[in-house]
Amino acid sequence: MKVSSVNARWILDSRGNPTVEAGLQVGRAWFTASVPSGASTGTHEAVELRDGGRPFHGKGVSKAVGHVQALGKSMKTKDFKSQAELDAFLLKADGTANKKKIGANALLAVSLAGARAFAGSKPLYSYLAASLKRKPLLPLPFANVLNGGKHAGSSLKIQEVMVVPTGAKTFGEAAQMVAETYQSLKKDAVKKFGAPAGNVGDEGGIAPDVSNVRQALDLVWRAVEENGHGQKMALALDCAASEFYDARTGAYHVDGKILTPGELLNHYAELQSQYRFISIEDPFHEEAFDDFARLRAVFAGKCQVVGDDLLVTNPARIDRAQLSCSALLLKVNQIGTLSESLRAAQIAESFGWNVMVSHRSGETEDAFISDLATALACGQIKLGAPARGERTAKYNRLLRIEEDGVPLARFKLP
Ligand code: PGA
Ligand code: ZN
Repeated sequence: MKVSSVNARWILDSRGNPTVEAGLQVGRAWFTASVPSGASTGTHEAVELRDGGRPFHGKGVSKAVGHVQALGKSMKTKDFKSQAELDAFLLKADGTANKKKIGANALLAVSLAGARAFAGSKPLYSYLAASLKRKPLLPLPFANVLNGGKHAGSSLKIQEVMVVPTGAKTFGEAAQMVAETYQSLKKDAVKKFGAPAGNVGDEGGIAPDVSNVRQALDLVWRAVEENGHGQKMALALDCAASEFYDARTGAYHVDGKILTPGELLNHYAELQSQYRFISIEDPFHEEAFDDFARLRAVFAGKCQVVGDDLLVTNPARIDRAQLSCSALLLKVNQIGTLSESLRAAQIAESFGWNVMVSHRSGETEDAFISDLATALACGQIKLGAPARGERTAKYNRLLRIEEDGVPLARFKLP
């Protein structure tokens, strides 16, 4: 792949903050990609380079954009044979362990635009699947229909209550079940808690002012049943527990209580036996490898334990967590290049884990992750609610891929 020019710009993300978009020109065609941004970010994520200072309240990305332009100059003399070669070039240019020199946001924009350039006129998912020697498979959506934690202004500490259409036969059916549930949920929440309960959080899910996760789970499950989907849908949680962990005391402030790790584990076990959720993410804080492992043992055969802030899509941390998790949350911007993300998925799979490709709470219209999850054939994708353009872009891309005859995954516990 000979890149004839590279450009970069800032564009706005779904929270109104700037983010990086890069474009690579190969022949006469341009290939672009933009990067998402988290709010409940893990401490060990690769560095998202921000300008600081007054513009955009410190969140400007002009340095990162400048770095893409500078990379572009040295890329023009090269002929990249593969994604691995392109990403190795990017890593070498940065040279730091956490991408702080060039910025993971700058590197990722180039890496993802590069993947599109390698795909050329082929659909991205089919090019990626072929390069991974996998048969494309549409992922089951994990749809965050009720937002809490840092993504909402409510008292709910648990960050996400998701629905998973495990009984769907097609992605279209899955998306329909999610959309129907979402509409009922909104209506029920407004009826029960008043009009503000229908307002949405950063990922498009409603954000009623409930104070504990039971109320949230009851509300969501009622909406599932109202639509007759009780036999075909399951629940899932992202606790994002680092956000309610008090490092000073070692306790968790959640659901109106102050809990030790052991008490929190029992709380989760009780909740799981009642609500039968099939997936729980970041149940403990981002260094709690042992507490994760204890929960994984308790939940074996019942519920997958997903590592997000714990793992940050980082091969070294995944290695350390072999007994702590049973699924990897894969976020490309946590690590900064596509090749490293693929490597993370491969390590997780070698442990017998599941892999869930994920969006961020700050997103763009770019639906790269829909193609990526399909190509990896990992069977799971974490999306927001079926509302707001940056969220629906991912659903809609999967609906279009389905027209190519790609089948939908079935849920399986690790
Ligand atoms: P974030 O949230 O993008 O704000 O980190 C998503 C998640 O925690 O999974
Ligand atoms: Zn998370």
